[in-house]
Amino acid sequence: MTLTSRAFQQGGTIPMKYTCDGDNISPPFAWSGVPEGTRSFVLLCDDPSAPSGIFHHWAAYDIPWDWRRLAEGHGPESLADYLGEFRDILASHRLEDMVCVRRVVFDMDSNWKCFVENYSDGYHIPHVHRDSLSRWKSVSTRVTPSNENYTASFSAHEGSQLLLPFPDYVGFPAMPEIDEKWKTGTFFTTLRPGMMMTLGNDGALVFRSEPLSATQSRLTVSSLFPKSTVARNDFEEIVQNYYRRNAIVVGEDVAVSLRQHAGIESPYARMALLCRTERSLNQIANWILDRVIGPQA
Ligand SMILES: [Fe+2]
Repeated sequence: MTLTSRAFQQGGTIPMKYTCDGDNISPPFAWSGVPEGTRSFVLLCDDPSAPSGIFHHWAAYDIPWDWRRLAEGHGPESLADYLGEFRDILASHRLEDMVCVRRVVFDMDSNWKCFVENYSDGYHIPHVHRDSLSRWKSVSTRVTPSNENYTASFSAHEGSQLLLPFPDYVGFPAMPEIDEKWKTGTFFTTLRPGMMMTLGNDGALVFRSEPLSATQSRLTVSSLFPKSTVARNDFEEIVQNYYRRNAIVVGEDVAVSLRQHAGIESPYARMALLCRTERSLNQIANWILDRVIGPQA
C-alpha cells in the first residue's frame, strides 16, 4: 500500500499547522494499492526518532474498507458532519435493521457521472422510466437539504415503487416502524459523490456509481430488506417480483447512461455555453473529478 499526503513530501517536515503549536489537526491523507479482502483500516501516527523512544501521537481506527482518503482534521465523527440531517430524514427507515440480499454489478462504457446526473435530474422518471416507474401516479416534494452533500425528494403514491404498478407485482407490507408521513411513498436520494438510495416503505435500493476510468464506470445495485421481512417463509417467492422490477428499471438506467455517454463523445455534440470560459471550466472540473478525486474517492 502507498500512503501519501498533499501537505508534505516523504521524509519532509510536517507543517506547523498540524502540530500542537499550530491548529493541532491531522494532515490530509490518501492511500492506494489496497489488498483484496480489506475490511477496515487503522492509521497510526508514531514518531520513532523521539528522544524518549517511539512516541504515539494519535491513531484513527475502523476506517471503512472503501475509503481512500482522510480529509484534513478528519476524524471518524466527521462522517456524521458530512451527512448532516440526511441521517435524521431517513432515520425511521431503520437502514441498520436491513440486510443486503442481492448485489448486481454492471460495468459500463460510460463516465461514472452519467448515472449520477441521470438519477438526480427531474426528467429521469417521466422519460427514462416512461414505460415503468412513471406509471405510478405520484406527487413529488423536494426536501430542502441541510448541506450540499445530499439531495432528497419524496414521491407520494400508493403501493411501493420498488415494484411496478401492475397486478402481478405482489410485494411485502410496509415496515411498521416507519414514520406515518413516509409510509405512503418513496424517497429518492443522492449522496455525493456517487451513492444513491431509493427507500420504499418496504425496503431499499442502494446504487453506487464509481469510476474505472474516464470512459468506464461500475454501477453496483444492492437490494435491502428489513431482517423481519427476510425471515418470512414466503420471502424468496415474493422477492422475485422486486428483482424482476429491478431488471427492467435498472436496465433502463444503464441504457440511458450509455446513450448519454455516446452523446458526449459524438462529433455532433456541442455543450450549451453560458459564458465564453464555460467549456474550459467544465473540462478542468471534469479532469479533476475523473483523474484526481475519482480514483481516490
Ligand atoms: Fe432510474
